[in-house]
Amino acid sequence: MIIVLLDGGPMAVRVMLLSWMTTFLLLPTCLSATPPYFPNLGVFFGGSSEAFNFTDFEIFNYTQTLDHFTFRPRSGLTFQQRYAVNSRYWGGANSSSPIFVHTGGEAPLFAGISTTGFFTDNAPHFRALLVYIEHRYYGESVPFGSREEAYRNSTTLGYFNSAQALADYVELITYLKRTLSAENCPVIAAGGSYAGLLAAWLRLKYPHIVYGALASSAPILYFDDTTPIDGYYLIATNDYRQISENCFGVIKQSWSEIDRIATLPNGLNILSTKFMTCSVLGKAVELKAYLKQIYTISAQYDYPPHYPVQQICSAIDGAPQDSDILGKIFAAVVAIKGKRPCYDVFESYFPPSVLDGWTWQACSEMVFPLYCDAKKTMFEESHIDLQGFSEFCRKAFGATPRPHWIATEFGGHGMKSVLQKFGSNIIFSNGLRDPYSSGGVLQNISDSIVAVYTEQGAHCLDLFPSSPDAPEWLISQRMAEVKIIEGWLQHYYAMD
Ligand SMILES: *[C@@H]1O[C@H](CO)[C@@H](O)[C@H](O)[C@H]1NC(C)=O
Ligand SMILES: *[C@@H]1O[C@H](CO)[C@@H](O)[C@H](O)[C@H]1NC(C)=O
Ligand SMILES: *[C@@H]1O[C@H](CO)[C@@H](O)[C@H](O)[C@H]1NC(C)=O
Ligand SMILES: *[C@@H]1O[C@H](CO)[C@@H](O)[C@H](O)[C@H]1NC(C)=O
Ligand SMILES: *[C@@H]1O[C@H](CO)[C@@H](O)[C@H](O)[C@H]1NC(C)=O
Repeated sequence: MIIVLLDGGPMAVRVMLLSWMTTFLLLPTCLSATPPYFPNLGVFFGGSSEAFNFTDFEIFNYTQTLDHFTFRPRSGLTFQQRYAVNSRYWGGANSSSPIFVHTGGEAPLFAGISTTGFFTDNAPHFRALLVYIEHRYYGESVPFGSREEAYRNSTTLGYFNSAQALADYVELITYLKRTLSAENCPVIAAGGSYAGLLAAWLRLKYPHIVYGALASSAPILYFDDTTPIDGYYLIATNDYRQISENCFGVIKQSWSEIDRIATLPNGLNILSTKFMTCSVLGKAVELKAYLKQIYTISAQYDYPPHYPVQQICSAIDGAPQDSDILGKIFAAVVAIKGKRPCYDVFESYFPPSVLDGWTWQACSEMVFPLYCDAKKTMFEESHIDLQGFSEFCRKAFGATPRPHWIATEFGGHGMKSVLQKFGSNIIFSNGLRDPYSSGGVLQNISDSIVAVYTEQGAHCLDLFPSSPDAPEWLISQRMAEVKIIEGWLQHYYAMD
């Protein structure tokens, strides 16, 4: 993989990141359609999350401990952690009504809450208290007084990891239960993607605090070498191939065509004109990374009713007869991004603050290696270059990734047997069109560690607010999840 080396500074880091993204960094987030961030992506969400009603959520701060695990001079420093509470439906402490806690992932509070429709929709039924907690170092929950200071280098970023985040959640939950005299109320955690991992890990690590977890699209088996590392791109490819063999073929051929043109005299200018790029391309890889991101993100978020993969393939298949390969590919770009004066190949689907945070996480412990086999997929071959990636991380942050740590800390190898013998009360939900489902739990492991998936679903879809046009299979998935949680709670109350 080629690294685009530029002078220092955060923009340079982001540009370098583009080329790494396709082998390591694809953010597993549940994208939210909160308007300031992804105005052009409304198509992915069918407007359902835009309709999220924040009215009943009250925002608070909790004075959180910087370092839960050591007693060094700085450990006792604190920061303000933001959280939101909706008590409209809560049955109260006297009836031991449940507390539903959404573990924040790599998103600011409001973007995060708008992906929590499942709990909100079902809160009246369960008479549940709803809590959403922002993850440290994202949004406003930033230590050291300012974002700039907190993100300076590994001296301050060092407190930014999943173990600290889980400890934040249990400290805050304990505080809330005490404050509300709700010690007897069962806590159910939920989250999607990275936040789904956190929800599952909370249940596994802190069973005395969290009674059950809904982990949506959580690639809990994607760490270390617990899952075949080409799973992600194989699923992404099949998403396209299922729609149209021609679409698959055109995309597959386009990479060498881009390379061929790039090597012509004036080739990068020709490509820039063809794709109406906002600035002249410096390297072909800039365009290729941009396209690869469009294809994979569209597969990840292939949601009804707009189905972006379908849109891409319709554009490719429906391009005028005389279009060449790249003309067809450009038609797909326009179908997804809309008609624009120009297309910025450095544009990311994620706001810079989220990208910076996730880059740190990927450079420390969230190492998802994504190998891509050109023979089996529609993508170019990409090899995992851990050494080059480590070099990038040392330059960017002064940190070296620890690719084996997550599997060591939370389990990875033999995870199914561990879950069966020691775990309980976790729903692993997935949509099989989501490339990350390749690292998900897709079989029922015990009576209470269950997999609820849909063939047609995509990343975190079950967590979004219900909408009138939701397809039948999605409604049944959500109903199955409600029934399972009801079962856990019945069991909980029967033990009192
Ligand atoms: C949002 O919820 C509040 C209170 O539950 C309600 O009064 C209001 O009409 C809702 N707004 C929308 C746009 O649905
Ligand atoms: C929470 O703390 C932050 C940072 O100190 C502050 O800017 C914000 O106004 C506080 N929010 C609330 C709801 O108290
Ligand atoms: C809850 O129970 C306590 C003790 O029995 C009682 O004092 C209190 O009024 C009850 N609260 C509600 C909201 O019913
Ligand atoms: C981080 O930045 C601070 C302030 O510039 C500096 O004192 C410290 O040595 C740096 N730490 C690392 C690990 O680079
Ligand atoms: C696992 O069990 C649940 C609850 O009984 C059920 O809804 C679900 O379909 C099962 N999943 C699989 C993959 O068999």
